[in-house]
Amino acid sequence: MCGIVGYVGHRQAQDVVVEGLRRLEYRGYDSAGIALVDAGTIASDKRAGKLANLEAAIAAEPLPPSTTGIGHTRWATHGAPTDRNAHPHLGQKARVALVHNGIVENYLTLREELERAGHELDSETDTAVAAHVLEQELLECDDLAEAMRRTCRRLEGAFTLVAVDAHDPTTVVAARRNSPLVVGLGEGENFLGSDVAAFIEHTREALELGQDQVVAITADDVVVTDFDGSPATGTRYHVDWDLSAARKDGFDWFMRKEIFEQPRALADALLGRHDGKGQLQLDEVRLSEDDLRTIDKIVVIGCGTANYAGLVAKYAIEHWTRIPCEVELAHEFRYRDPILTRNTLVVAISQSGETADTLMAIRYARRQRAKVLAICNTNGSTIPRESDAVIYTHAGPEIGVASTKGFLTQLVACYLLGLYLAQVRGTKFGDEIAAVVAELDKMPAHVQTLLDRAEEVYALARQHADTRSVLFLGRHAGFPVALEGALKLKELAYIHAEGFAAGELKHGPIALIEEGLPVFCVMPPRGRDQLHDKMASAVQEVRARGARTYALVEEGDDAAAYADEVIRLPKVPTLLQPIVATVPLQLFACELATVMGHDVDQPRNLAKSVTVE
Ligand code: F6R
Repeated sequence: MCGIVGYVGHRQAQDVVVEGLRRLEYRGYDSAGIALVDAGTIASDKRAGKLANLEAAIAAEPLPPSTTGIGHTRWATHGAPTDRNAHPHLGQKARVALVHNGIVENYLTLREELERAGHELDSETDTAVAAHVLEQELLECDDLAEAMRRTCRRLEGAFTLVAVDAHDPTTVVAARRNSPLVVGLGEGENFLGSDVAAFIEHTREALELGQDQVVAITADDVVVTDFDGSPATGTRYHVDWDLSAARKDGFDWFMRKEIFEQPRALADALLGRHDGKGQLQLDEVRLSEDDLRTIDKIVVIGCGTANYAGLVAKYAIEHWTRIPCEVELAHEFRYRDPILTRNTLVVAISQSGETADTLMAIRYARRQRAKVLAICNTNGSTIPRESDAVIYTHAGPEIGVASTKGFLTQLVACYLLGLYLAQVRGTKFGDEIAAVVAELDKMPAHVQTLLDRAEEVYALARQHADTRSVLFLGRHAGFPVALEGALKLKELAYIHAEGFAAGELKHGPIALIEEGLPVFCVMPPRGRDQLHDKMASAVQEVRARGARTYALVEEGDDAAAYADEVIRLPKVPTLLQPIVATVPLQLFACELATVMGHDVDQPRNLAKSVTVE
């Protein structure tokens, strides 16, 4: 959601900025713009629509050469996605250009103040207001970093701001509060980006900024302060992935590439997390074993797909640890006065580590003295930094907007957490834990088996190009898989899709069944309980009413007896089945969206990182 790039150095800033914006396209946007500092003036252009529109505009009317610039991809919040509302915004005298990610909550008050002082704002956005305030401050102090600090003290809300001053071509200044920003450290050049993808082509050395900090970059220097001007330091780190991770490598979509990366991602998520004999070692969990033994309740929070990972976690964690575990949508959590104590462990799941709803929820939880553990994929992001402990999922960068390897590795992290708690608290014997760990170790191979048969699922998807509605049914740990299968179809194919717990059918949803309606059924493995047979009855009930049923079943299940079509899954324990059962549903959604002609990597209206509440 909004991409930001800043550059100062020895290259043509236009090239660096446009390339950086291209690498941030995956975050989701609806307009793009650039500003360069040129001999005492600002040269800028901005266009609604895709980056290609901006590129065409600057090809037709080139901007002057410059080695200092900023750029932005905007996901509209205040004001429609038009050329005028796109960033950068200039101040009243066009001395500053500013780009912004976030929401300035007091912009109406500030706008009134500015208008009373004679300012004319040419856009209805909160960012235009911030640009005018920044320039007002700059005209008083003649120092962009100081003007930025003064501006930040006047703004309320969440923001990353990046600005240039027409009178100082050597510097780009940025600030962050509750919105992402990283510094890329080069040789004789420095970068700013919403995330490292913006500059990974040029450097893998990065500086993570803290909350409420201002940074001024020149070609050779990076100066960080807090909003009051006191010196501050960021945290330096090396980015452990390279440009190849941000390329499609022959796949038509990043999403498809990421689905096929899942065997490796799962292996990486497991790497080093156990000693080979089933003893877990989660060194990054910075909570003491004593702390973990005193936990009497777990609350898992997340949004969208991350929330579904949390639903799976509940089944596993409660079963292995006997600790009561609740799962809650992060945006609902803090508004209902949840009961939290110092013995509550809040597990925040977020691929990006920047989801504003989840971030606000963990801040609330910590204020209530609960302990917070993040399950996150993105190094240097805000949620792990603000948590007491973290389990990184090591999926590598996820560029497709729809989460795939992010989800599967979140599941692994949840399982590891549950098993670790069971080990520390002694609720499972060592050999029981070792047996589950051994099954987890087989997951990369199982997923590879499913990917080798992708063509079967693609063929099925191609038959559904005219389908307008699909249902997904599951039970137990298969229920969140049904929800995830439905979400993937909604967001990629834009068709109506719902996931239901199969037991709920007769309480209402069965009324939706009509002739030919496709219903995907995630069948529980045959076990000691009767779940499988109960689910098979539900499949027959919808089939009897005309639905076309597609059963995802473990090898050996005689599903042809009760379903129209069968998708075979490797035989795995019930609690781990979501890892394998999700894969065909990802493939189905990706292929169906492709045949329907949709942009799979950047579905309409969606952003990869949802950085506003
Ligand atoms: C769906 C999807 C979203 C995210 C959600 C949370 O495919 O990607 O539902 O799961 O926006 O994002 P993170 O995990 O970054 O907090």
